[in-house]
Amino acid sequence: MSESRMVDVSQEDYELLKKIKEYENTMEEESQRLGWRWHEVGAYTATLNKFVVKGLVEVSYKSRSETRYKLTDKTKALLEVELPGGTKVLGARVEVEEAPKFNLAEMFSDIVGYDDLKELLRESLQLEKPIHVLLHGPPSICKSKFLLDIEQAAGPTAIPLLGSATSHMGLWDLIAERRPRYLLIDEVEKLALADMAGLLSLMEQGRIIRTKVGRKLDEKLNIWVFAAANRITKLPPELLSRFAKFYLKEYNATEYVTVVESVLVHQEGLDEDGAHEIALRLVGRSHDIRDAIRVGRLSVRVGTRRAVELLVRSREE
Ligand SMILES: Nc1ncnc2c1ncn2[C@@H]1O[C@H](COP(=O)(O)OP(=O)(O)OP(=O)(O)O)[C@@H](O)[C@H]1O
Ligand SMILES: [Mg+2]
Repeated sequence: MSESRMVDVSQEDYELLKKIKEYENTMEEESQRLGWRWHEVGAYTATLNKFVVKGLVEVSYKSRSETRYKLTDKTKALLEVELPGGTKVLGARVEVEEAPKFNLAEMFSDIVGYDDLKELLRESLQLEKPIHVLLHGPPSICKSKFLLDIEQAAGPTAIPLLGSATSHMGLWDLIAERRPRYLLIDEVEKLALADMAGLLSLMEQGRIIRTKVGRKLDEKLNIWVFAAANRITKLPPELLSRFAKFYLKEYNATEYVTVVESVLVHQEGLDEDGAHEIALRLVGRSHDIRDAIRVGRLSVRVGTRRAVELLVRSREE
């Protein structure tokens, strides 16, 4: 990572850094060299550690009983510069929370239909404050695919999670450390209750509250949550209320044909005629896109008709 990379800091962190600089200016030269302690500048050590990782603050002295810090030269110099727009940018030697550059036109281009949902998600991604979106509905209607497309477009600024495979202790540390801009939660209905509770303050105020070794850590970040679920009936109403909910319903016959054709050609590499034939054989028999994907794969060996017999018709009898 190059030295000239810039780092975004939140308004709150920026104000804190400014306050620290003012405090440093009031210190005697000798104690300035030694550095200050966390309580002198009124900053949580977790926040200071984050600054150290970002190259904004350095540890100037460390013993068993105390740690002293000072601002890096670069931070001091760059604190003077105010940039246009809301975000303050400091140059520093850091791993960066890079502002995502979405190719909004290309995003979701491999998804058939859902124009309203695509517009809602694209617009939400460009807002200054988040609108969280929850996709729900029956299997195989593209919910996870939407999350995957956002993940691919957002790159390292997104953290994908699976509700059923998430342990809550690790989750909040991960979010606090990585400070993602987007949290993508598939199977959100399977998230542990404690994590659902944590989401409430994260989604409403951008706050993460953790307790660590008896200390309470309270951090802020601007985060968008996009989630998917098959059923939302068991989600707590206060969590549901924080999402814009979007119901994706089972495909009708016309939609099924269009989606199957596109998925088989673009995802499975079939030719258009083959894809068309499979779509026509399955329409009316299945609503599940995954049936078509299985038939597409098997048809390469046994032909379309036999593949349908083996995979779909046999089940009907
Ligand atoms: N409208 C669509 N456009 C493109 N691909 C689609 C569309 N609908 C479904 N698919 C494809 O169907 C398959 C299943 O979709 P996906 O995994 O997103 O379903 P899901 O809604 O998350 O289902 P589940 O509830 O079972 O997890 C994927 O390969 C996906 O790409
Ligand atoms: Mg899914």
